[in-house]
Amino acid sequence: MEDGLLRIGVMASGRGSNFQAIIDAVEAGRIKAEIALLVVDKKDAYAIERAKKHGIPHKYLSPVDFSDRDGFFSAVGEEFRKAGADLIALAGFMRIVCKPLLDMFPMKVMNIHPALLPSFPGLDGQAQAVDYGVRISGCTVHFVDEGMDTGPVIIQAAVPVRPDDTDDTLSGRILEYEHRIYPEAIRLFAEGRLEVQGRKVMIKGYEEPGSAIINPPIAD
Ligand code: GRF
Repeated sequence: MEDGLLRIGVMASGRGSNFQAIIDAVEAGRIKAEIALLVVDKKDAYAIERAKKHGIPHKYLSPVDFSDRDGFFSAVGEEFRKAGADLIALAGFMRIVCKPLLDMFPMKVMNIHPALLPSFPGLDGQAQAVDYGVRISGCTVHFVDEGMDTGPVIIQAAVPVRPDDTDDTLSGRILEYEHRIYPEAIRLFAEGRLEVQGRKVMIKGYEEPGSAIINPPIAD
């Protein structure tokens, strides 16, 4: 953060709607930062089109070009280091991040997950919630550790599940809140307001703990 402006690195594998929400928040001045680099692991990821449209540097790295996962994530980390990134935001990046990248950016890798962690980690968090029959699910922004969606929680949004919900309808409702809480978590990071204490993330200046929960009306 040489000039005081946070430099964000983003990793995506697909359509990149969360990436777009971050771009929009940066362009609107809600997050005082710049997006330094997008790294994708899929050549045809739509996120690349978004990067091009907004003049954001992007790079495709294919895991098959590396002998193992550590090699791939070392190379990813090196790209972000060269780009001067201070924070890495996983935005629909469909792989478990491993140690080399986490060691280079300790508690500086964030992820968005479409469920209220620790419920329904891993793939298809929305379908897991529908199948289980819960009344409330939601989304979580968390710091990334070596586990699967196990790192310290930053912000969550609780989203009601309707009896007739399908994976698709619930995913759409949750996605709206993903697009709100991810830029908000990054804004807090950019303002130096997140402090990790063990499993807990303290948010400086939030009046009460409930502020880190963003809730739609229950009848939503
Ligand atoms: C989102 O649901 C996110 O929570 C999950 O993957 C999906 C990515 O969507 N990690 P997009 O690529 O950001 O549109």
